[in-house]
Amino acid sequence: MKVGYYQFRPLFGKPEQNCQKILHALQNVEADLIVLPELALTAYYFKDKDESLKYAEDPDNSKRIDSLVNLASKNNIHLVLGFAEKRDKQCYNSAALIGPDGIEHVYRKIHLFNEEKFCFDQGDTPFIVNDINGVKIGIMICFDWVFPEVTRTLAIQGAQIICQPSNLVLTYCQQTMISRSIENKVFAITANRYGTDKRPQGSLKFTGKSQIVAPDGKLLHRSASQRDALYITEIEPEEANNKMITKHNNLFDDRRPEFYTRLNNK
Ligand code: ACM
Repeated sequence: MKVGYYQFRPLFGKPEQNCQKILHALQNVEADLIVLPELALTAYYFKDKDESLKYAEDPDNSKRIDSLVNLASKNNIHLVLGFAEKRDKQCYNSAALIGPDGIEHVYRKIHLFNEEKFCFDQGDTPFIVNDINGVKIGIMICFDWVFPEVTRTLAIQGAQIICQPSNLVLTYCQQTMISRSIENKVFAITANRYGTDKRPQGSLKFTGKSQIVAPDGKLLHRSASQRDALYITEIEPEEANNKMITKHNNLFDDRRPEFYTRLNNK
């Protein structure tokens, strides 16, 4: 399976320009799955919910998302796109799984980071696993990485590849995703943006360094920090099916949930 990511620098409040940039970069791409950054059409640093709603897309009525569906159809690929999702007066920080026949799933970010809490509604979609031609993928968005429960919830449902659209500002997610891969024996594709959102309320610099990690924690590739990068590589998703750590330790069978009951209490 050929998987990869497109790292770029979305311009704030320029959804058409950002969409054209993606379409252009991926026009001749040969791959099965490409992950794009979080909020790839709008950029990130909204000042409030009115502003995020102003630029958000309703996936049922979006020329831009339709153009990405056309791209997926023409190139026979799947895309995972981070975008601001408008549903009536609600606005979510979402990721759509887009396939040749249309949108297959939308995940709404469960763990909002910092001022996102003033710009988006809390996600309300459960973590599920999607099937792409027999390969199981799970989607989380950026700050979800801080919560190991997320990767575990996806892995335990059989996810072989974790797709993580991101707009990272903290510096240690990339390193942590290596642990997330090891502790779940899954592939992880982190598609991060780079550049700076300079806004009246302040400015945020994003860290780039998008990466792909294998189930044994091997870093298959990490891009530069502040540069466009379209990276594609061949992986064997079945490698994620082997959950043995030693001859006598299975990652999931050896769990002792009766000792983890506190995890489900606040
Ligand atoms: C983040 O969740 N965008 C840091």
